[in-house]
Amino acid sequence: MSTVNADLTYNYKVVRQFAIMTVVWGIVGMSLGVIIASQLVWPQLNLDLPWTHFGRLRPLHTNAVIFGFGGSALFATSYYVVQRTCQARLFSDGLAAFTFWGWQAVLVAAVITLPLGLTSTKEYAELEWPIDLLILVTWVSYAIVFFGTIMKRSAPHIYVANWFYGAFIITVAVLHIGNNLALPASLFKSYSAYAGVTDAMMQWWWGHNAVGFFLTAGFLGMMYYFVPKQANRPVYSYRLSIVHFWALIATYVWAGGHHLHYSALPDWAQTAGMIMSLILLAPSWGGMINGMMTLSGAWHKLRTDPILRFLVVSLSFYGMSTFEGPMMAIKTVNALSHNTDWTIGHVHSGALGWVAMISIGAIYHLIPKLWGIKEMYSISLINVHFWLATVGTVLYIVAMWVNGIMQGLMWRAVNEDGTLTYSFVQALEASWPGYLVRFIGGVIFLSGMLVMAWNVWMTIRQKDAVAADNVAAQPA
Ligand code: HEM
Ligand code: HEM
Repeated sequence: MSTVNADLTYNYKVVRQFAIMTVVWGIVGMSLGVIIASQLVWPQLNLDLPWTHFGRLRPLHTNAVIFGFGGSALFATSYYVVQRTCQARLFSDGLAAFTFWGWQAVLVAAVITLPLGLTSTKEYAELEWPIDLLILVTWVSYAIVFFGTIMKRSAPHIYVANWFYGAFIITVAVLHIGNNLALPASLFKSYSAYAGVTDAMMQWWWGHNAVGFFLTAGFLGMMYYFVPKQANRPVYSYRLSIVHFWALIATYVWAGGHHLHYSALPDWAQTAGMIMSLILLAPSWGGMINGMMTLSGAWHKLRTDPILRFLVVSLSFYGMSTFEGPMMAIKTVNALSHNTDWTIGHVHSGALGWVAMISIGAIYHLIPKLWGIKEMYSISLINVHFWLATVGTVLYIVAMWVNGIMQGLMWRAVNEDGTLTYSFVQALEASWPGYLVRFIGGVIFLSGMLVMAWNVWMTIRQKDAVAADNVAAQPA
């Protein structure tokens, strides 16, 4: 986009607020991750109190990292990208500010209610109905701000990153409403509108698409903007990006059945979930290759630019977890992996390797731009963070792969007379070293986030850093 309207200004205030909260919730959520990881190594750390028990802190961890850290990164980047690529100011400053405060209120409500044991018990949708309603209002406001900005764009074209953000916003709204339909019994207790296996199917239709849309589609939007920007190269193939978009969104919504293999879900629905998961490998890798190939002719930049390194390594973890996922969706493989730490390893290769790394890269790209300065306070600290994040992720996922495959094999081992070779406790004891390594990996990853917080703080308090409310428009 070469022409810029001289009167146009961007709203960077809300982007700055969400960018800072990405770092804050990242530290909160990952600290909770480290705490629950330590509880699995040293159970005494449950402290014998209901509020600090693993069963209550685990959903708080998932809510804080997915909706606090990931959600804030998605809000920040989508508001930034939509303004720049549409050459338009956000549709409404007031509504945008409401989405910031509304979303933070949801997260604070999670921090209060989950340790108190107030939960709907649906995974990644644990929050009780009054909070669900606040999520709904905030999300609809988000949709109005985002699509309103697209409607008033002065750029003729809707850049592909906005397609991904748009699909993420619409699909999450539909899933949130569908899965959370419930009958309130009191202010903090409700009963799901669905029963039995229908409830499970709705839950995993949501659960898998929380992965597909909350933890993937929006982050692909991030990839399509920040990788070309940071590499200073056009997207490798724009045509492939459009094929990638339609193939991905058309396939993801059918794959949830793979979470319910060997359950009461009808067999055909399980098989459909498996087949759609296998098909999903193609668009996932198409997108990953499109991102990687954008670096053609710019690979040498990886030597000197740690932000680009974050972005590119995130794509390799994306490729890895979207290869692993379809394999785990094959029923016979799932018979081994289900309920073991292998799933936890898969989750975190996606969560730490893909979601966290691409968000961290995008935030490092954004911070100096949002405060009107040239670059981050310390590039070498970004490099330190990159290595802490990479080593932490690798330790975490390798420990869980080893544990998971060992657990699966120990649980199914039988003696000649048909009795089990190992008791459950023996498999648990054998998992202890893996839990210790995962804890160490988590501490290393978290320390990288603390380095980031320090670097961001030092950047924004520099003399020439300006937190302007209205920023003159620049080319996309
Ligand atoms: C320092 C970093 C982190 C540590 C130490 C950590 C640790 C943990 C632990 C110990 C569990 C429970 C595992 C179990 O029940 O056996 C867990 C679950 C989970 N974590 Fe993390 N985590 C971290 C970062 C993240 C991030 C950044 C995300 C997402 C963006 C994430 C998403 C999840 C999810 C979705 C689960 C539930 C998995 C499932 O139910 O299968 N974690 N984490
Ligand atoms: C092609 C893409 C993918 C497919 C087909 C896929 C498939 C699977 C399968 C089969 C499971 C195990 C279900 C079970 O045994 O209970 C699983 C679990 C999970 N995956 Fe993936 N996966 C994919 C990509 C990803 C990515 C990129 C992420 C994270 C960003 C992710 C996050 C998760 C989470 C959080 C769970 C645990 C759900 C739970 O039980 O709580 N997946 N996935």
